[in-house]
Amino acid sequence: MTTALAGALLAWYDRHRRVMPWRARSGERADPYRVWLAEIMLQQTTVATVGPYFERFVKRWPNVAALAAAPREDVLHAWAGLGYYARARNLHACAKAVADSHGGVFPDTEEGLLELPGVGPYTAAAIAAIAFGRPSIVIDGNVERVMTRVFAIDTPLPKAKIDVRAAMADLVPVDRPGDFAQATMDLGATICSPRRPKCMLCPWEMACRAHAAGEAERYPVKLKRAKRPLKRAIAYVLTDRQGAVWLRRRADDGLLGGMMEVPSSEWAAGEPSAKIARAAAPAALAWRELPEKVRHGFTHFELELTVWTAQARRADVSGGQWVAADGLDAVALPTLMRKVIARAIARAKGTSKKRRPKRA
Ligand code: ADE
Repeated sequence: MTTALAGALLAWYDRHRRVMPWRARSGERADPYRVWLAEIMLQQTTVATVGPYFERFVKRWPNVAALAAAPREDVLHAWAGLGYYARARNLHACAKAVADSHGGVFPDTEEGLLELPGVGPYTAAAIAAIAFGRPSIVIDGNVERVMTRVFAIDTPLPKAKIDVRAAMADLVPVDRPGDFAQATMDLGATICSPRRPKCMLCPWEMACRAHAAGEAERYPVKLKRAKRPLKRAIAYVLTDRQGAVWLRRRADDGLLGGMMEVPSSEWAAGEPSAKIARAAAPAALAWRELPEKVRHGFTHFELELTVWTAQARRADVSGGQWVAADGLDAVALPTLMRKVIARAIARAKGTSKKRRPKRA
């Protein structure tokens, strides 16, 4: 049954839905491959950032079989800049699983989808609803905010999710669950914003308990988060006389797994001692320290890298690979490493400006 609340939201969605490249047009069936790809990309990344990546991916790999057949390195490279690189490794593993074990067809239930690499409860629910019309309950950050406001749920996040789920159980309309899921996301993104929500334009204005109490912005209630710790390390940028940079591949597991990097000392609290810095250097060379550090925010900590540069002969290091400066765009370098290398190259050219380090 479609409740009055769901009906009002769907009517609003029919007029105000955002146009997105992975969304089927009204009346069209959604393509599970595109829905899955978009949902993986959107897990920790904004709609605006995802757009061009999504377009490039579907142009190059128009279906799951094409993506499964691609070399993993190509997928990692195409992903570079989106962050959270485990997603790219799992994306490729998932495409292979669907192609090899499911005959190229995505499972059409939440339980089946949950078995796939990189597909957690949120993503399984979203794909099941959007691609297959299953009445699953889809809760992302936007939806949490909308629902804690409408139902004035005081429990702090992340515990509030249980109450949000209970409140939504009777709300999801069985005839349009995918539209309902995306409507709640759009409402959170465009109307029910964290600050200064546009309640006058909201189809749920009259039903919203937080709005009635004049305190929409108080929701969702959050526990105070501990400050992210700061880790520090030295990053070593080795260049040869032609300006090629020495790179190596990170281990598959862990942060930035499988991506390329310049070597660095252990990422740890506190300033690395001179002894640690020298011991971790990939070769005993005449290293120069750049005056500006590179900062990068990860989910659970902030990283501050001091950049050391040196010119080397190719025989000074073994393993890894030398990549010409004009070939750097063609390798799977995460944003952090691009920042480090750009800083070193700018310095070598004498074009570095003094700037306050920025958080990513
Ligand atoms: N965020 C995650 N999935 C989304 C979708 N399908 N539409 C809009 N925003 C989203």
